Amino acid sequence: MKQNSPVVVVTGGNRGIGYEICKELSKVGCRVVLTSRDEEHGKQAAAKLGADKKNIVYHKLDVTDSKDIETLRDWILKMYGRVDILINNAGIYLDEGTSVFNVDEKIVKETLDVNFYGAFNMCRILVPIMRQNGYGRIVNISSGYGAMSEMAGYDAAYRISKAALNALTLIMADELRDGDIKVNAVCPGWVNTDMGGKMAPVSAEKAAKDIVHVALMDEEGPTGSFFRHKKPIEW
Ligand SMILES: NC(=O)c1ccc[n+]([C@@H]2O[C@H](COP(=O)([O-])OP(=O)(O)OC[C@H]3O[C@@H](n4cnc5c(N)ncnc54)[C@H](OP(=O)(O)O)[C@@H]3O)[C@@H](O)[C@H]2O)c1
Repeated sequence: MKQNSPVVVVTGGNRGIGYEICKELSKVGCRVVLTSRDEEHGKQAAAKLGADKKNIVYHKLDVTDSKDIETLRDWILKMYGRVDILINNAGIYLDEGTSVFNVDEKIVKETLDVNFYGAFNMCRILVPIMRQNGYGRIVNISSGYGAMSEMAGYDAAYRISKAALNALTLIMADELRDGDIKVNAVCPGWVNTDMGGKMAPVSAEKAAKDIVHVALMDEEGPTGSFFRHKKPIEW
């Protein structure tokens, strides 16, 4: 493992798209911090990826717990002194098919806590380290369900959380425009995971490749953009 290879944090790395992102980033030589809210599941996932031989380590992280994020930041600073790439992947989808008129407010709040505030706090706690090093790539895993250009009825909690994440992407990209810290969002398409279900046409491997493509963009690459299958899409 090279001492100067990029250090990456992936949230929700124990299964689905997050797990495949960890696999893909480790393949290209990044030092991957696979995180999950459940220690047992996260350690199992890291072991399955060969963490003992490869450049993958596990760290506990519930994105709704700011103390967890601060503990992770302190550990990263001690271990690596830097963080180069942050993939805000952790997400929940609890109101599939539910009308905005019936969705429980608690579900809306819980969804915002993970899908929006999780990424918001991850960025606010880790970006200062990126700023110190003058380099950073943040990829927010969003969804077309959060795009104003594709907005429709039902799934309000999920849609609003991803719309807020999209706004956060643009706000942070603009504030960080002067340095080499890029903030982009990716809609992975409809992906075959626990969340997407078995009928979904896109594999988690393919979704991860599309996300990693954005994460590894060089200095010339865009910031404040929204991608699907490696191509820019409307917000
Ligand atoms: N699948 C699709 O079709 C699709 C489409 C568009 C966008 N996306 C987005 O892609 C991302 C990954 O989705 P997926 O399909 O891989 O979903 P998934 O298979 O359901 O996995 C979700 C991941 O998020 C983690 N997570 C949930 N709450 C968390 C918390 N509070 N702290 C830390 N981790 C937490 C889960 O951990 P646990 O195992 O502990 O629950 C799990 O690792 C999500 O942001 C999702 O919205 C997915």
